[in-house]
Amino acid sequence: MATNGERDPLLGPPGEPNFARDTDLSEHAAKRAVERRAAVIRAVTHGVLTVAFVAALLSMFFLWDKVGRFAGALPKDPEKAAHRLLESAPVIDGHIDLPEFARSVYGNNITAFDLNTPTPGHVDIPRLKKGQVGGFFWSVFVNCPAHAGLDDGPDFLKATWRVRDTLEQIDVAKLLINRYPETFQLATTSDEVKSAIADGKIASLLGVEGAHQLGNSLAVLRQYHELGVRYVTLTHMCNNAFADSGGYLTPIETKWGGLSPLGYKLIEEMNRLGVIVDLSHTSDETARQALKHTKAPVIWSHSSARSVHNVARNVPDDILELVGTTDGKVDGVIMVNFAPQFVADEGKANVQVVADHVDHIANITGKAHVGLGSDYDGIESTPEGLEDVSKYPALVAELYSRGWNRFELAGLTGRNLLRVIAGVERVAANLQAHGVPPALDIYDKRTDLPKYEL
Ligand SMILES: *[C@@H]1O[C@H](CO)[C@@H](O)[C@H](O)[C@H]1NC(C)=O
Ligand SMILES: *[C@@H]1O[C@H](CO)[C@@H](O)[C@H](O)[C@H]1NC(C)=O
Ligand SMILES: [Zn+2]
Repeated sequence: MATNGERDPLLGPPGEPNFARDTDLSEHAAKRAVERRAAVIRAVTHGVLTVAFVAALLSMFFLWDKVGRFAGALPKDPEKAAHRLLESAPVIDGHIDLPEFARSVYGNNITAFDLNTPTPGHVDIPRLKKGQVGGFFWSVFVNCPAHAGLDDGPDFLKATWRVRDTLEQIDVAKLLINRYPETFQLATTSDEVKSAIADGKIASLLGVEGAHQLGNSLAVLRQYHELGVRYVTLTHMCNNAFADSGGYLTPIETKWGGLSPLGYKLIEEMNRLGVIVDLSHTSDETARQALKHTKAPVIWSHSSARSVHNVARNVPDDILELVGTTDGKVDGVIMVNFAPQFVADEGKANVQVVADHVDHIANITGKAHVGLGSDYDGIESTPEGLEDVSKYPALVAELYSRGWNRFELAGLTGRNLLRVIAGVERVAANLQAHGVPPALDIYDKRTDLPKYEL
């Protein structure tokens, strides 16, 4: 103040006479001085208040975003809220058929399959980024023998190249992951998923979509695990040596009434290894028996709700009731499939109806047990508004506008799945720490082992 000559207007000029002098003249002057000072005070007060008000408005305008961000609050606008939420809780999809797309469209020639440019499928790198994807299970799928025009016989014993072809799919997934190291990072544990996301990468997990890909052999399961596979779907759309399938839109004739004896051993070995039991595609009996037998949490990598749309491929309410973390329930996550034929009547699949599946499952299991398993690149058409991997934010926005909070949404987009993966890891570590040995069981229909009698 002193340096630039500014003075507090509330103080009189230096050396000004005392206003209390008892003369007309000085009284008049004093009165005027008082009026002057009052006017100055009013003007200054008004000015200060105005500046403070404008400053407060401006800082609210510019800082609210940052303050809200710091406090974790989401913006009111659902679209903005979805993008904000996904910044810290990106999508981890339970089932994407990118390797299958590479196989069926490009014969696994990844040179011809450039993920940096728009692909004819639902997935490429620019759209993954736009959709705020932080990870997904790359499905290393090959068809059921019958769907590939092959016959593996009534006991699944005839060779069909399913194991070779699965190895090719693991290979093409890894070739693609390694070709774009700035985007993808192979992940085999929940911690690796988190660190890939922290590094700004898309955590890339591997899942085998059907035990028909195991060649009836637990040894093959162990070797898939060695290669990084972290879930096996117990069936695809065919029965296999381990379990019955649920068919497609309607059930198919079953063989075992659920799990086969080897199917029970498969679950035990998956629990011991830390391979997630995936119940998508299975028959209801298979799912019920597997839920009873597993020691570890489970997933439905890509399944919706049967009571929202009545097809065999969806999960019925009485099975959803078995999922949870209380009294005898099994922890798990049902990751909603976007396939139009599974979510709604023809021509009616859209974001809202997919959100209905999410809401319905959450209503029964709780919001901690639902996730996203789009099936992109494995489905022929898509719901309106969920055309490809760039569109996840639309579903998040829809659920936000229905009242889902940021914790619930973060669970849906990926954290529920991460909890399940970590749970499966703990069970495996525990079983191994207790010395549970590898399962050496052999499919009882096989006659090639043992070979010689001594
Ligand atoms: C793979 O695709 C590229 C690009 O289309 C082509 O030039 C190349 O010949 C293909 N490689 C094989 C082995 O077919
Ligand atoms: C879920 O429950 C809420 C609250 O009870 C209800 O309003 C909503 O319609 C339910 N949604 C579905 C899809 O069942
Ligand atoms: Zn599938």
